Amino acid sequence: MTHPSRRTFLFAIPALALASPVFAQGQPSIHVVKDPGCPCCNAWIGHLRDNGFAVSFEERSVEDLAAFKREQGIPDALVSCHTATVGGYTIEGHVPAADIRRLLAEAPDAIGLAVPGMPYGSPGMGPETEREAYEVILIGRDGRATTFSRYEAA
Ligand code: CU
Ligand code: CU
Repeated sequence: MTHPSRRTFLFAIPALALASPVFAQGQPSIHVVKDPGCPCCNAWIGHLRDNGFAVSFEERSVEDLAAFKREQGIPDALVSCHTATVGGYTIEGHVPAADIRRLLAEAPDAIGLAVPGMPYGSPGMGPETEREAYEVILIGRDGRATTFSRYEAA
């Protein structure tokens, strides 16, 4: 019986790790579209980077950003400031990184997630210790809104 050499073994581990879907989700790439005059979007980008996302972004006029939201299928009632795309989904507003990771892991047939408006204490919107209650909404392919997760007031 032959043992695999130590050398083979060491090379096999990273190959397996790269092939695993969990590892592939280790640093999801997300692209953020924002308007130039919105500082809270930058704070949300910082939150995503702090939580292991590879973030790229671009700035568009308020009108072009509104058109982009419509193109992506975000219902008017659910809009916030920035709009992002990740793994075939659209993310509207200050959605926590943990919810985006859960979306990618569960992979529902949906447009994506939204946190409508800009609730105080959501990521990028002030301290969590002063958070107001808000919901993360799952937007169905038909535009139907259902609750994906709920954050209680701090
Ligand atoms: Cu904002
Ligand atoms: Cu924003």
